[in-house]
Amino acid sequence: MIFNKRKQKEHSIDMTRIPTHIAFIMDGNGRWAKQRKMPRTYGHHEGTKTIRRLALEANQLGVKAMTVYAFSTENFKRDTKEIEYIFKLPKEFFHLYLKELIDNNVQIRYIGHLEMSPQETQSIIKDAVFQTSKNTGLILTFAFIYGGRDEIVETTKCICEKYKNGEISLDDITEDYFEKHLMTTDLPPVDLLIRSSGEYRLSNFLPWQLAYAEFIFDETLWPDFDEECLHRAISIYQGRERRFGGVLK
Ligand code: IPE
Ligand code: IPE
Ligand code: MG
Repeated sequence: MIFNKRKQKEHSIDMTRIPTHIAFIMDGNGRWAKQRKMPRTYGHHEGTKTIRRLALEANQLGVKAMTVYAFSTENFKRDTKEIEYIFKLPKEFFHLYLKELIDNNVQIRYIGHLEMSPQETQSIIKDAVFQTSKNTGLILTFAFIYGGRDEIVETTKCICEKYKNGEISLDDITEDYFEKHLMTTDLPPVDLLIRSSGEYRLSNFLPWQLAYAEFIFDETLWPDFDEECLHRAISIYQGRERRFGGVLK
């Protein structure tokens, strides 16, 4: 389904049926900047404001988990300057917003190969995780240097190691067991996946966790994605029938 921002109106939400886990593919920063004749990095900069806005709103709505795709393993194909700029954004983001996120009881996590980023970026992110680890509100997870296929291979290797060491038997390897060993570990399955910017693909984001998610593709470019866009997506989600392979009575 495609929705244009200009057509937006107020969207009513049933507060008793808020999705537990919402995942975002934050796309369209480059195009947003290009439209303004600005460098792509400006779009990434403005895109971080959307993360703050949506995290606070999701938290208010009672969403338990929000996972955002910040950098994919494939994004290393980009210009070094752009990559370096993106890797500096966590410093600015947490400098500006960490206190506010703490005040709102938000817990920060990350998934992905953080060790492939500069030392300073690693420390900033780990510090935000540490400072918020006891918070009980929204769990905001950054997928940073993340790739879904990589995650499945890494998980498989970890489980094979346990089998090789005699810690588990083949029968121990169930779907639940596998899921617990993914980078997302104890996060609930994703209910709603939202991709901005009118692209219709997953780009290697959470292939296991999205197995039964509802998908919404929105035309809005990420820096323009606001609370109203989130409300609209949740309202559409609430209008869907989730069958999980069964038959509705
Ligand atoms: C998403 O915006 C941010 C990242 C992938 C890091 P893009 O940079 O992909 O923006 P477009 O798709 O080129 O407009
Ligand atoms: C997906 O967006 C990755 C992130 C949002 C971090 P891309 O812009 O990299 O995806 P493709 O290349 O269009 O599939
Ligand atoms: Mg893109």
